[in-house]
Amino acid sequence: MNKQYYVNGEWKSSEKIAELNSPHTKEVIAYIPQATREEVEQVIKVADAAKKQMAELTAYERAAILEHIAQLLADNRQKAAELISLEAAKPIKYALGEIDRTIETYKFAAEEAKRLTGEMIPMDAAKNGANRFGYTIEQPIGVIGAITPFNFPQNLVAHKVGPAIAAGNTIVLKPASQTPLSALFLAELVDQTALPKGAFNVITGSGKTVGDALVESDKVKMITFTGSPVVGIGIRNKAGLKKVALELGSNAGLIIDKGVDLSQIVPKCVMGAFSNQGQVCISLQRTYVMDELFEEFIKQFTETTKQLVIGSPFDESTDISAMINLSEQERAMNWVEEAVQNGAEIVTGGITENGVFMPTILTNVSSTSKVSCQEVFAPIVVVNRISSVEEGIAAINDSNYGLQAGIFTNDIQTAFHASKQLEVGGVMINDIPTYRVDQMPYGGVKESGTGKEGLKYAICEMTETKLVVWNHN
Ligand code: SIN
Repeated sequence: MNKQYYVNGEWKSSEKIAELNSPHTKEVIAYIPQATREEVEQVIKVADAAKKQMAELTAYERAAILEHIAQLLADNRQKAAELISLEAAKPIKYALGEIDRTIETYKFAAEEAKRLTGEMIPMDAAKNGANRFGYTIEQPIGVIGAITPFNFPQNLVAHKVGPAIAAGNTIVLKPASQTPLSALFLAELVDQTALPKGAFNVITGSGKTVGDALVESDKVKMITFTGSPVVGIGIRNKAGLKKVALELGSNAGLIIDKGVDLSQIVPKCVMGAFSNQGQVCISLQRTYVMDELFEEFIKQFTETTKQLVIGSPFDESTDISAMINLSEQERAMNWVEEAVQNGAEIVTGGITENGVFMPTILTNVSSTSKVSCQEVFAPIVVVNRISSVEEGIAAINDSNYGLQAGIFTNDIQTAFHASKQLEVGGVMINDIPTYRVDQMPYGGVKESGTGKEGLKYAICEMTETKLVVWNHN
């Protein structure tokens, strides 16, 4: 299956193509164009030329286009989910869940398009402000370069495309090299809407060529990126005065306080640690359990983990399938070995079976082991013992990252204290750090990034506030 990239409402081929392999079977599933720098620059020109027409659409028209995208995705729910399973090995039940979330994301974007308001400025609050009437308007910024990851090939694309359209911008999307099929399928759907041609473009190829061309172009006014901190920091350093929104990694932590009901918590923790093979930025990576509950938690957590169904991403009963590629799998296994050398114990997992990295629980892990202090992005979870909530908060904060954290506690004071003290973008009280609905503000502190997603917040990043002052002297 030879794919083409999408620009100005047309499909184009590149001279160079690359094989796309299934992470599960390793078979070739498609041939993907590898755009040259000149081709990317051409696409950027198209998006730049479309920006005037895009900025002139009314809020009603932008909302209607977004609602239409949501409807087309709903009509093609199964096909869109199967593409995710094919190219990312996401088990089909999670892929369907992702499509349902994506539909909601576009619907939220449609609603927010209608709520794009400025504010009145009380000019006469200043000594020199008499007889002035001031207000702000939110204007689109122009071309947005969106660089998206493999782990949510539709919904994390929607978190960039949805707000960009809602705000009246044009987009050049570069999907992850492993997951271009979902983005190209989205282009097929968007093509059926009234979005002006050239306002949404998908260009495929290497991160270096396509990503660099986007980041270095003067015509691109904002880069919105989800991916690794190393790449994110590189983008920031090259972006000059462009706006940059970065959703980077984390090693999300959870505290389990004494007295909580483990039977309610354990299934959530298993889901948080292992869904999508742990390849989620807010995957539960570090669990700090109070002494009193530690042994029982380990027992229940291990039993429930062992019940996970391992298999083909297309099998409806599958919970865990292959990681995105072999080099990621090897990297994760090396990290487990390093943790063991540093004194960690493997409770379960730590092996691969039929090409699948088995869900792995480690205890007694030193805070300097990579599985604890770096983003593991694999089905590996650390469970360590703590003797106070304070110790858990200190352990979670002892990190270069800060995206989301969670705490299960029955004590309201403890919950308030943790919500203030945890150095993260979002604190989940009585939930796992992996909890997310798509309209909530989402974004981290420290090396987890800058800027927020969640439609209303992303739109804010994707607009310029302009002040208008009338002198009615
Ligand atoms: C992410 O990996 O950053 C996205 C997590 C989610 O949307 O659930």
